[in-house]
Amino acid sequence: MIVVEDVALHFGGIRAVDGVSLKIEKGSITGLIGPNGAGKTTLFNIIAGVYTPTYGRIFLDGDDVTGFKPHQLFPKGLLRTFQIAHEFFSLTVRENLMMVPAGQSGETLMNTFFHRGKVASEEQQVCQKADEVIDFLNLTHLADAPAGTLSGGQKKLLELGRKSCLNWAAP
Ligand SMILES: Nc1ncnc2c1ncn2[C@@H]1O[C@H](COP(=O)(O)OP(=O)(O)OP(=O)(O)O)[C@@H](O)[C@H]1O
Ligand SMILES: [Mg+2]
Repeated sequence: MIVVEDVALHFGGIRAVDGVSLKIEKGSITGLIGPNGAGKTTLFNIIAGVYTPTYGRIFLDGDDVTGFKPHQLFPKGLLRTFQIAHEFFSLTVRENLMMVPAGQSGETLMNTFFHRGKVASEEQQVCQKADEVIDFLNLTHLADAPAGTLSGGQKKLLELGRKSCLNWAAP
């Protein structure tokens, strides 16, 4: 699914990553280990589109995505999550998911006055989808809990859930 072909990134004289090749199969769980300063984070950043490699190529599902930016990789299904999750800690788990889909009609002040029905029905649909994701993540019992109170692992699950909500078209 992800193919890294002879990728390098040089910062001036520092060869942070130097000629890495690897293949990640669909459905696999792959780890990357190495000593401090080995270049793991830099390689992640290259694959996630934060950096363009000095040389080498990245393929995603067979497409050459070298130099693609994170927002271009996202619709192709690639997203980087972080060691420290970035939830909105005072919003509930459900609210954290509901705020993800862009272009909701309730974002426009005028709509909240003149198209209240549309705003409400859209919000209800988004809420329903959020609850489906919450069930899938086995976080049902925490749907109304402030996201800041989740454990580290639960926050990671929430972050993955937010990714799946990004694919929703505005209803
Ligand atoms: N933006 C940068 N500019 C210059 N050098 C950098 C930059 N980012 C990383 N490096 C250097 O590249 C090398 C690899 O760093 P990187 O952060 O990728 O290592 P790492 O494997 O993630 O290490 P750790 O296990 O400590 O997180 C290090 O020598 C680091 O100092
Ligand atoms: Mg690192």
